[in-house]
Amino acid sequence: MFQSIGFIGTGHMGGALARAAAKGAAGAPVYLANRSPEKAKKLAMELDAKLSDNRTVAQQCQIIFLGVKPQVMARVLKDLAPVLAARKDRFVLASMAAGLSAQTIQEMAGGKYPVIRLMPNTPVAVGAGVIQYCGLDVTEEELKDFKTLLTPAGLVDQINEDLCDAAMSLSGCGPAFCALLIEALADGGVACGLPRDKAQMYTAQMVKGAAKLLLETGIHPGDMKDGVCSPGGTTIQGVRLLEERGFRAAAMDAVIAAYEKTLQLGQG
Ligand SMILES: NC(=O)c1ccc[n+]([C@@H]2O[C@H](COP(=O)([O-])OP(=O)(O)OC[C@H]3O[C@@H](n4cnc5c(N)ncnc54)[C@H](OP(=O)(O)O)[C@@H]3O)[C@@H](O)[C@H]2O)c1
Repeated sequence: MFQSIGFIGTGHMGGALARAAAKGAAGAPVYLANRSPEKAKKLAMELDAKLSDNRTVAQQCQIIFLGVKPQVMARVLKDLAPVLAARKDRFVLASMAAGLSAQTIQEMAGGKYPVIRLMPNTPVAVGAGVIQYCGLDVTEEELKDFKTLLTPAGLVDQINEDLCDAAMSLSGCGPAFCALLIEALADGGVACGLPRDKAQMYTAQMVKGAAKLLLETGIHPGDMKDGVCSPGGTTIQGVRLLEERGFRAAAMDAVIAAYEKTLQLGQG
């Protein structure tokens, strides 16, 4: 296991992953650094972690999570390059920056250091996220330890780097698509007379339950739909309407549109 874990940037995503890592760290110290230290200080108190700074994390930690925005990554790593170059021990850089390849991180850091690229989504904040990851110049053991470290955040799955953009377009963007669906279904419930808070609570729990049923039984989504649709019943009428309005095609196209935009940004 990693003997020391560091975070540079403890914003929304860095902070959520630090919470998970603090649980998966098996007692190893967690160091937190952030541009505005108050944020890291508050989190350090919550997690019983060490308040730190970028240089100390870069000097001391065996795994260094880079939680800054992609547009500031080059500057942050340029500042830290001499510190990293002076290290004699092995360490891993773990970047969560959308759209930056593992090789780009190596180039920005100024050395062929081991890099893990990870793609988390926002439900990692409640331990129900999806994190895809891939490694460059890392060992199998480091990949295994990385998975163990972040398992408290949710599903942690290794993929080839050429599938990262597709994965992000699905599970990274997906919480927004799901939020739209939940809001719309709850609106329907309100239109039928349910109070707003109940409509939203029922919808969210129903979506969670449907996903849990699918994951735990391995049932095909088509079979799950058939199981609810009694012949001549009510649900099939709703399904008919969704098909008529192109619901499936819209959902597919949402993922494809996000993917195409990711490719465009990568070229720009
Ligand atoms: N949010 C998502 O859904 C999501 C999904 C996948 C990947 N990501 C990736 O996660 C990374 C962080 O995104 P986010 O949504 O968590 O953004 P965020 O909330 O703005 O967090 C970025 C953090 O970096 C800190 N920071 C900026 N410059 C720094 C520096 N020089 N040294 C140390 N810390 C510095 C900021 O500190 P201040 O408090 O001073 O601003 C802020 O706390 C991005 O690379 C993004 O691509 C995010």
